[in-house]
Parts: sequence; C-alpha cells; structure tokens
Amino acid sequence: MSHPLLDTKVIEEAPGVYLNETGDVFALFDAQVQDSGNISYGVQVGQQRFFVKTAGDPHDPRPFLPHEERVALLHNAVRVRRSCSHNALPRLHNVIESAHGPLLVYAWVEGELLHAGSAARQDPHSAMQRFRRLPLPEIMRALDFIFDLHCELAQAGWIAVDFYDGCLIYDFSCEKMHVVDLDMYREGPFVNEMGRMFGSSRYMAPEEFERGASIDERTNTFTMGRTAANLLSDGTLARSAFRGSDAHYEVVRRACSDERRRRYASVGDFCAAWLGAGKGNP
Ligand SMILES: Nc1ncnc2c1ncn2[C@@H]1O[C@H](COP(=O)(O)OP(=O)(O)O)[C@@H](O)[C@H]1O
Ligand SMILES: [Mg+2]
Repeated sequence: MSHPLLDTKVIEEAPGVYLNETGDVFALFDAQVQDSGNISYGVQVGQQRFFVKTAGDPHDPRPFLPHEERVALLHNAVRVRRSCSHNALPRLHNVIESAHGPLLVYAWVEGELLHAGSAARQDPHSAMQRFRRLPLPEIMRALDFIFDLHCELAQAGWIAVDFYDGCLIYDFSCEKMHVVDLDMYREGPFVNEMGRMFGSSRYMAPEEFERGASIDERTNTFTMGRTAANLLSDGTLARSAFRGSDAHYEVVRRACSDERRRRYASVGDFCAAWLGAGKGNP
C-alpha cells in the first residue's frame, strides 16, 4: 500500500506538524523522556505503525550535541541500516528531508525497552529483571541474535558505539528481540578522541574512557561480553550469578578482559567461541 510516509521525499512543514497532519501520533519521545535532543514519534497511518526519528528542534540550546551533529548522526544511522539486512534491525521504510533535518521512517516494533534508569534497575517488575528470569534457552536465543547482528555489522566494517540495554526492545509475547539506535556506530577502527565516550559504563571497555586509545573489534568483544553479563547474569561477572555453562562463562570472562590482547581479536572470533561453547566445545 502506498501512502505519504512511504513515498514522500521532501516536506516544507516542521516534522511534528507534518506527522500530525499525516497520521495519528500515538507516542512521543522528546525531552520529557530522553536527553539526546532527538524527537521521535510513533505514528499510525491506516493499519500500519511507524517509528519516525528526527533530530529535534534546531533552536533548542539544551541538548549536549548541537542540531547539525544530531542530523549527521541520523544520516549515519541510514548508512548503518542500509549496509546490513539483519532481522534484528527494524525496517527503514523511507527517509524524508525537511528544514529540520531528515525524518527516518522505521517500522514500529512491539515490545519493551530493556533499559531502566538506575532507580528502577533492581525493581523486579522492570523489563530487564523480567527478562533475566526467562527460561535459559529463550535468553540464549535472544543473545545469539544480538551477537549474530554484531558479527554481521563488524563484517560490514562497523564498530558498535553507545550500545547498551537502551538499544534492546524485547517482545515478551513473541519472544522477539529488536536492536535500535545504532546512530553512533562508526566505521572502524578509530581513535578515541573524547576521553569518556558515549555509552553506559555497564557495557563499556576501559579504552572507551581513554583519550587516544584505539577503538576496534576487541573493544566490541568486551561490549558483547558485558551484554551477556547483563542479560544472562546480574550485571556482574560472578560465576554464581551467571546462568550459562562453564564454557560460556569462560568465553565471557575472556571477552571482558581488561587487557585487550587477552580478548578475542574480532567479533567473529567471539561469536565462533560462543557458539562452540554452546555445542560443548572448549
Ligand atoms: N522501531 C522502533 N519501534 C518502537 N519503538 C522504538 C523504535 N526505535 C526506538 N524506539 C523507542 O524510542 C526510544 C527513542 O529511540 P532512540 O533511537 O533510542 O532515540 P535517541 O537517539 O533519542 O536515544 C527508544 O528508547 C525506544 O523506546
Ligand atoms: Mg537511545
């Protein structure tokens, strides 16, 4: 079916005005709920739901990143999405240009964000805590899916930046994981020019805090190891809390070594070791 969100290439109006004219705006992600400066919309047109992401208000002085950098990150997100066709990524239907920057028209995905702010993190009702209590095979399938995605992205040359549980939307009824917000992923390797980079410290490698350090696939094996520590354990690397096998535990320990040379050299090597551990291989 064809309609404006799928066909339009350029609009004259501000994104919010246009989207309210075009469909039913049923969700709003703005400065009330996040600090990125981006403004995103859940929009329904007919029976179809969309997640439309924009760089927000060009004149708002509050966000950390200026508007033009937010616009550049959205263009980057389009490149990431178009370079990888993995099922974990919501479909990108269309990109509409406006004076406020692009509108990225993604499929709306059902589910709950696994991220909770620090106050709610231990709440047993939070999505993350409910996820951690799922049957082990279900968690393993979701993890395998995330690792497989990052293996494909690494093969396409992308280094994950700012990946954390705020990128994970899990549909508990369909047992389906989606990964969103890859806007900061970078073609790598590259040099850390920021000192503390963007991201959640619960997922970040030591070099992501160190100006001048190299950020590469070894960094991302740490990120993937921390993902296992968060989804398959209590966020720590304690053996008693870890729900996987000894073989899986050893893979995670190695991936999360502080010393880079002890980690897996690539995300592909990490994934192979993880899958091998699942088959009982050392
Ligand atoms: N495709 C999608 N379908 C439904 N909800 C989404 C989708 N992508 C993101 N979201 C929700 O919108 C929120 C903001 O999106 P995100 O891409 O993280 O924006 P930001 O760059 O502002 O952090 C996410 O935390 C998530 O809850
Ligand atoms: Mg986000």
